[in-house]
Amino acid sequence: MSEPKKLYIKTYGCQMNVYDSERMAEALGGKGYVETQTPEDADMILLNTCHIREKAAEKVYSELGRFKGLKAEKPDLKIGVAGCVAQAEGEEIMRRQPLVDLVVGPQSYHRLPEMEAKTRQGAKALDTDFPEEDKFEHLKSRPKAKRGPTAFLTVQEGCDKFCAFCVVPYTRGAEVSRPVDRVLTEARDLVERGVREITLLGQNVNAYHGAGADGDWSLARLIWALNDIDGLERIRFTTSHPNDMDDDLIAAHGDCPKLMPYLHLPVQSGSNRILKRMNRSHDRDSYLRLIERIRAARPDILISGDFIVGFPEETEEDFRDTLDLVEQVKYGQCYSFKYSTRPGTPAAERPQVDDAEASDRLQRLQALLSRQQRELQDAMVGRTVGVLFEKTGRLDGQLVGKSDHLHAVYVQADASLLGQVAQVKIVESNTNSLGGVLV
Ligand code: SAH
Ligand code: SF4
Ligand code: F3S
Repeated sequence: MSEPKKLYIKTYGCQMNVYDSERMAEALGGKGYVETQTPEDADMILLNTCHIREKAAEKVYSELGRFKGLKAEKPDLKIGVAGCVAQAEGEEIMRRQPLVDLVVGPQSYHRLPEMEAKTRQGAKALDTDFPEEDKFEHLKSRPKAKRGPTAFLTVQEGCDKFCAFCVVPYTRGAEVSRPVDRVLTEARDLVERGVREITLLGQNVNAYHGAGADGDWSLARLIWALNDIDGLERIRFTTSHPNDMDDDLIAAHGDCPKLMPYLHLPVQSGSNRILKRMNRSHDRDSYLRLIERIRAARPDILISGDFIVGFPEETEEDFRDTLDLVEQVKYGQCYSFKYSTRPGTPAAERPQVDDAEASDRLQRLQALLSRQQRELQDAMVGRTVGVLFEKTGRLDGQLVGKSDHLHAVYVQADASLLGQVAQVKIVESNTNSLGGVLV
């Protein structure tokens, strides 16, 4: 028997891409590929790219350039670009970097096996369409391979909201939800393979409206159905849009036993003037009221968010509104970014904020956010929480896992607890983690 072919995938960007990379590996697994961690061994290299960062495309081109030597040594090596830069740049990638054999957009991963075959015949393969069929349907997973205790499951993709700064509606296309039975089948399959925690993914996951036998299901209803799967212990979802938090979903945070007390709910800015210019379709007060209702349903819920500072025309006063909103909400974890221009989006055409000013605001915001994050983490000391153990720690006899609130927790515990949830009393809070003891 010949050696299996090796696949090296490098993943950038969001969890959606992490999930997609797993699906691409499965699709090519059907063609005899196994994954490798070193590009030097690979018969195929795939870059699963993200378009969010500044000069994202330029960075992909320079990364690709570095494979020149490898390709010269190994003419059979195939190089592919996937993800959001592939979607945005399409054919241009092959024109600018002739090393590239394959360009595949996020909607077309099920076509990878055919595309790979085409490259093996010496042709280039390009697919950045938005096809109608469910791309996941084609990605039959390999026979019940054992998995780690946590997994992502994409339930929704794309976005119709067109925030003025964002490329997602252009790169990921219109909002699409996967049908309920497909999601539940995939979830049961994951649980059979050892998964105990599933994070439902979508660019606007709470806008989920997948087809069920009796009409469209909401995300809340989907979560309740997942709650009934034996062996599944934890459910999370990300990322949510404030306008799509319906009453049932808020209520589920109080009532659904397996739904974890953590919610990623980006607001982007605390200034009504800027929110309007961002086309966010919610304002500061509606967001604050929403947080209140969520906390009424689940008082200890940990809220996380995303912020953009230095959005075109943002003044110091607008920025102070953001700081003020942060003070009111008290976030447990946040991602904050300096606005960066995405060609083709409405905000790209507007007067930009001075870069040094924007950097200064980002620093001030991050100082506040990390102080809050630390305060909420410290407040866990003395509490008993569930921890799902994921791996062994650096010290002898130590396991590491994530708490219900998604804090990293270190505990002295027997390795037989790996992959299980145990109750842990938190005894100390360190820079980026908690220490606990089994109860
Ligand atoms: N759908 C999610 C977020 C998707 S993009 C939502 O609506 O919140 C992930 C994050 O990247 C965004 O929340 C935003 O904070 C950041 N981001 C997106 N475009 C950006 C840009 N042009 N400049 C800086 N940050 C950006
Ligand atoms: Fe982008 Fe999120 Fe806005 Fe959609 S809702 S356009 S994904 S930031
Ligand atoms: Fe990036 Fe695409 Fe995700 S642009 S954040 S990889 S949807």
